[in-house]
Amino acid sequence: MSEILAKELAFPAVHPDGFPKLTDEPQFDPAKHLQIEAPESVLSLKDLGYSDAEVADCPTDFGVTSIFRILSDEGAAAMLDVARQLEAYTTSNARIARNVRGGTYQSKFLRDLCLSPDVTAALSDIAGIPLLPHTIPHQLGHLNYNPLEVGENVDKWHVDTLRIDYVMFVTDPKSVQGGEFQYYKGTKDEVAALTKAGKPLDPDKIVSPAMPGPGYAVLQQGNMVVHRAKGLTAPGERKTMVNGYVPRDISFPDYTRFDQLSIVDPAHCSASEYARHVAWMARERLSARIDGFEFSTDTAAMAEEFQAFADQMAKTAQELRDAGTGDVEHFGDG
Ligand SMILES: [Fe+2]
Repeated sequence: MSEILAKELAFPAVHPDGFPKLTDEPQFDPAKHLQIEAPESVLSLKDLGYSDAEVADCPTDFGVTSIFRILSDEGAAAMLDVARQLEAYTTSNARIARNVRGGTYQSKFLRDLCLSPDVTAALSDIAGIPLLPHTIPHQLGHLNYNPLEVGENVDKWHVDTLRIDYVMFVTDPKSVQGGEFQYYKGTKDEVAALTKAGKPLDPDKIVSPAMPGPGYAVLQQGNMVVHRAKGLTAPGERKTMVNGYVPRDISFPDYTRFDQLSIVDPAHCSASEYARHVAWMARERLSARIDGFEFSTDTAAMAEEFQAFADQMAKTAQELRDAGTGDVEHFGDG
């Protein structure tokens, strides 16, 4: 199918219950708070060991960047202020001991940063495809907080429930012992096979990029790059923020693990947000069809197109019926 560049979907005008707004927070100012620098190097999916066929199933061959800067010192200080205020709202799941999801409903600063067109444009250049901020609000501005128990990993080895995201240090990584972000220079099938066999990951393939300070990040094709966040080895404060993006070209199959989101996010948000996300893609697809109207005798192609659309809607309906019935997937602590 030819490219369909979707128009951005505005953040919901109505906010869900249970997400009290911060009342005293900095105001996001891109001129003051952003200091976006390009990464020095980028690994492709092929560099990670993925085959041509596996790469062809992805919207871009982009894999993972070296560490690059997103926030200025002032921006990092403001982000830390917001992350500390949101710490009162942490929740747990089978992978992460303490995280805040849905913080973009509570903090305008976090929302404005996560939706920033300047950041989106810079990340699109790096990923090699036009991106949009994720249209599922719980996939924006995810915050991880170190577990209260020293030594417990912040997050286990896993791949993400979305395609493209960055992981940014909010606290100064040099101010704590341990707490490294790590990724695996291999494929998810390789990690799955090792985990199943009870074998450790190959230590030579574990990359622990040096993080110079708060406001620095790594951008990754998160559903393809196996990664984790290690625990602290001494008491300290470790906070990171993960922001998600979707490819703007919606002709490519969507990648949203709603089965996973429906386990970790509140029931009064997850299905509604997913249904809105799918409806947006459907609207954009149908709008593109109307805008590109032409006369044709290829009835079979039209039928195939509508069948694919109907199949997608039926798949979504089934996913919604199955909501909350699965287990949180991860590859353990390696
Ligand atoms: Fe992740």
